[in-house]
Amino acid sequence: MVNGRAVLTDFWAALFTRSFLPTLAHTLGATVVAGAFFTAGVSAYYLLRSRHVDFAKHAIRLALVLGFLFSAAMPLLGHLQALEVARDQPIKMAAMEGVYQTGSHKALSIIGYVDQNAQKPVGLKLPDGLSLILGLSPNRVITGLDSVPPSDRPPVQIVFQTWHLMIGVGIILVLIMIVGLYLWWRKILERSRWYLRVLQLAIPLPMVATTLGWMTTEIGRQPWVVEGQLRTSDAVSSTVSVGQVGTTLGVFVVLYAVLFLFWLAVVRRIVRRGPEEMPATEQAEAVDGVLIATAGHGPGERRKESS
Ligand code: HEM
Repeated sequence: MVNGRAVLTDFWAALFTRSFLPTLAHTLGATVVAGAFFTAGVSAYYLLRSRHVDFAKHAIRLALVLGFLFSAAMPLLGHLQALEVARDQPIKMAAMEGVYQTGSHKALSIIGYVDQNAQKPVGLKLPDGLSLILGLSPNRVITGLDSVPPSDRPPVQIVFQTWHLMIGVGIILVLIMIVGLYLWWRKILERSRWYLRVLQLAIPLPMVATTLGWMTTEIGRQPWVVEGQLRTSDAVSSTVSVGQVGTTLGVFVVLYAVLFLFWLAVVRRIVRRGPEEMPATEQAEAVDGVLIATAGHGPGERRKESS
């Protein structure tokens, strides 16, 4: 800090903070999980309609293996990130678990809500769980919300709920994948129509968990933009008016809504058409390497090889 201004002295230190690796791993893990569930859901759609069966059988197995490995890794990667949060943003962690009083032997909430009048979480809890998980000892002291004035605390209920819902959805994702692997092992995966329907319905779940995780992260650090240094209310630019911010936000919302609708229409078309019915040129684009390998062959051959 130089005369009240933050001055960047080391770009790489700013980039590679202590939480960089755990956050990157957790977020990239989330994208692989989302990809695996998308692939599994589309494959299930084909199997339910007996279309592109060979393709779908391969794709669903790949999706189950990757989906299982990465969704099972999410709690571990998330745990590493939680350790960083507890160390660098203890008030956020206190809000995530609804801990008001600083102290040891703090329970881990499984499901429930924060009774803000009684200043404690209510619901199903694991005694000493939070102290154990963050400090490997029931005696580990957890910083409570009481260590800062109420004006420096994030909105507790929403942070508590988004955090627990992310974990809840994460556990459901692992269970869905385990059931799939079990059905595959029993050799009844493709015939289990109920499970294929579950896979179709589960396509948006990783995105739901991702949004919940992002909400935990961003709402949990309120009212700070830079913890202990710069409040969100002070970070508002004095040269940009409320009207301008509102207009920009409105334009972004409309733009992204339109892009989303286009995206849905394109994905729907591609999925409905399926891999084998794509024209040869599009197939070739989809498998770039094969296009180079097959250049010079006739269109019929190229279609055969690239499919
Ligand atoms: C199952 C157990 C899980 C645990 C223990 C866990 C833990 C965490 C923690 C501690 C944070 C950091 C909050 C912060 O930095 O303020 C976080 C954020 C996040 N989580 Fe999870 N998570 C889990 C599951 C998932 C799943 C299944 C997904 C998505 C498929 C996911 C996606 C995210 C995302 C996108 C963020 C925001 C990262 C950021 O913006 O920095 N999480 N999670």
